[in-house]
Amino acid sequence: MNTHQKSLTVLGIETSCDETAAAIIRRRPDGQADILSNRILSQISEHAPYGGVVPEIAARSHVDHVDYLILEAISEAGVEWTQLDGVAATSGPGLIGGVMVGLMAAKAVALAHGLPLIGVNHLEGHALSVRLTEDADFPYLLLLASGGHTQLLGVEGVGHYHQYGSTIDDALGEAFDKTAKLLDLGFPGGPAVERHAKRGNPNRFELPRPLKGTRNPDFSFSGLKTALRRVAETEAPLGESDVSDLCASFQEAAADVIEDRIRLAMRVFRKQHEKDGDMRLVMAGGVAANQMIRSRLSALCEAEAFELLVPPVQLCTDNGAMIAWAGAERLALGLTDPLSIPARARWPLQSLSDAL
Ligand code: KG4
Ligand code: ZN
Repeated sequence: MNTHQKSLTVLGIETSCDETAAAIIRRRPDGQADILSNRILSQISEHAPYGGVVPEIAARSHVDHVDYLILEAISEAGVEWTQLDGVAATSGPGLIGGVMVGLMAAKAVALAHGLPLIGVNHLEGHALSVRLTEDADFPYLLLLASGGHTQLLGVEGVGHYHQYGSTIDDALGEAFDKTAKLLDLGFPGGPAVERHAKRGNPNRFELPRPLKGTRNPDFSFSGLKTALRRVAETEAPLGESDVSDLCASFQEAAADVIEDRIRLAMRVFRKQHEKDGDMRLVMAGGVAANQMIRSRLSALCEAEAFELLVPPVQLCTDNGAMIAWAGAERLALGLTDPLSIPARARWPLQSLSDAL
């Protein structure tokens, strides 16, 4: 239900990991979105020498860049401060130093311009991002797969999430990143592993499919990573085609597991939502950029009579538009936060329902 019958223009700020981002979106009264600007500064080159994100470097870099990115987002959108209806920032979960930088910037803007503040759960940003570009009515089943999270969720409405399954160890993106690190493919790992996998033989190495066939749609990727390391050690020294075959075999094993787990969740979701009409699966988070996993899910959706919705790649990975959008969806429902809202390193998505 929309409580707001006017357009809402919202500034969104994202600083929870290694992207400093600011965006302006407009939510029309009918729930459609316009992305007026979406500025992103990746810190990849600053973290690459360390093979992963260094929290202290990330936080310092957000401090250096967040202010002018906000100004750029405002000027690119062609809006005045007085035209904003609210300011949203990721207030968790994430690397706490970075989250504090973006949240403090948002508080300063809110205070200086007398605007409502919306503290956005980063995962809710990913969960709702598909609604920026698609008619994704609630409810839908969501695979949220990023560098820090792998969850299968029922998205029932803004702030209403039901968890069907999650990873019991590594996140899927993390498994891609660790595979890349093991094979010396640089950081971040996902795109590099996918690129090499395209040239490789997915059947050359036999790798495990952790938790496949079990009764709850949970995930586990640490055993896959260990098995991969063992094969890499046995085959060393690795030539170009060995690396490609290892990447392809890893990606195939990961895709098999994902497909199996989602099929199970789809069947439970369908049972619970029989009267809700069309079934939809949404894929969000950085791993949704993976074309091979997308095509596997597309075939699965066809077989299970689900519609597959995936945001464009630049809205799958961390960005400011998804935070602005989640802020606007909350603002439309009258959900705002006091200036005292804290930055949180941990903040489970399911706990949002309790706060409504
Ligand atoms: O959502 P995101 O940008 O940041 C987090 O909130 O974590 O996701 C980043 C993750 C990284 O682990 C990255 O390796 C993975 O998404 N990723 C991919 C691909 N592109 C990014 N994983 C597999 N294939 C890709 N093409
Ligand atoms: Zn993310």
